Amino acid sequence: MPILVTGGAGYIGSHTVLSLLEKGYDVVVLDNHSNSSYESLRRIESLTGRNVIYYEGDVSDRLLLKRIFKDNKVKQIIHFAGLKSVSESVVLPLKYYENNVMASIVLIEEMIANNIFELIFSSSATVYGNPADIPLKEISKVGGTTNPYGTSKLMVEHILNDVAKSCPQMDITILRYFNPAGAHSSGLIGEDPNGIPCNLVPYISQVAVGKLPKLSVYGHDYPTHDGTGVRDYIHVMDLAEGHVAALQHKASRSNCRTYNLGTGKGYSVLDLIAAFERQSNTNIPYEFVERRAGDVAECWANPDLARQELKWSATRGLDEMMRDAWNWQQKNPDGYKI
Ligand code: NAD
Ligand code: UFG
Repeated sequence: MPILVTGGAGYIGSHTVLSLLEKGYDVVVLDNHSNSSYESLRRIESLTGRNVIYYEGDVSDRLLLKRIFKDNKVKQIIHFAGLKSVSESVVLPLKYYENNVMASIVLIEEMIANNIFELIFSSSATVYGNPADIPLKEISKVGGTTNPYGTSKLMVEHILNDVAKSCPQMDITILRYFNPAGAHSSGLIGEDPNGIPCNLVPYISQVAVGKLPKLSVYGHDYPTHDGTGVRDYIHVMDLAEGHVAALQHKASRSNCRTYNLGTGKGYSVLDLIAAFERQSNTNIPYEFVERRAGDVAECWANPDLARQELKWSATRGLDEMMRDAWNWQQKNPDGYKI
């Protein structure tokens, strides 16, 4: 029975589709390409020698969802589709609530109407707002989100918890990702941001390849070991395997379970620059600038619950993330544009 992967052509979705195909699952992808291209799926097919059933369209398109569920015996859905730019969400909040919250409601309604009850949802460490107790546990306080993107993720989490209470057949897994980085080791699929990257690793990669002159390091007066922001960077293939683990291992304690997907280790911006330079043999010019609004000093996960219940933990380290990010960037300086 195929798994429906919404947003399966995007960064995390494409790596997860690859992992699923390699594990023998059949996959149906629904993507509107607002932030991706079909090329990622074509490359996955050539890497795995397997076909992806593909629908181009929007998650909020009820008629399309009905058609997908009629044509395919879907019983499980992984819902990656969503907009993810923190800065854009501040300027265009309604676009984020419409695309991330309203489209998720349509998907949940249609899945229930079609007797599909298993859902894995892409949430984010951003739901913890400005973290009070680090490392973050799933029971740590959520809320105080600093932008509409983060609020949209938290809203969907609340909706899913309520739906699970009202419908005992539901089987929902909420995965809170920390900071995904890196690419598949082939260098054939990776992160392909539109325009100038907002996130640290794609920005460093584009400096290394000569597309951008230098990195701006946002703040060097944080209360961290070197004054720069600390995050829990997780290899995108570890994240992908976390989704496969979530499909395979079910805990019966609740029909809506939430897990952190992180490594449990925090690295600073300067740690990342040094690791990238080591792996790429390049020099990354940078300058310190003002803190970025909305950034927190540090954020990393306690990943014990996923290890205990999903039997999953991250196995790849920072050097491997930087090596694979560089491999992808070098082989694809313009991303999927060919
Ligand atoms: P991405 O932009 O690369 O992938 C999202 C995919 O969804 C894209 O292919 C896009 O075209 C598609 N899409 C967006 N809205 C759609 C819609 N309404 N209908 C159909 N397709 C749609 O992003 P990503 O980094 O792969 O993130 C995947 C998910 O994980 C998102 O929900 C994101 O919010 C969440 N997340 C990402 C990060 C991160 O740092 N990358 C961290 C935490 C959570
Ligand atoms: N940073 C810089 N310069 C840059 C970009 C980032 O110094 O050009 C710093 C930031 O200040 C921060 C760190 O690098 O200290 C990481 O920043 P990112 O933008 O890469 O990631 P964030 O932690 O801000 O946010 C990311 C995603 C969110 C997600 C969150 C938690 O963008 O969507 O991880 O999962 F919610």
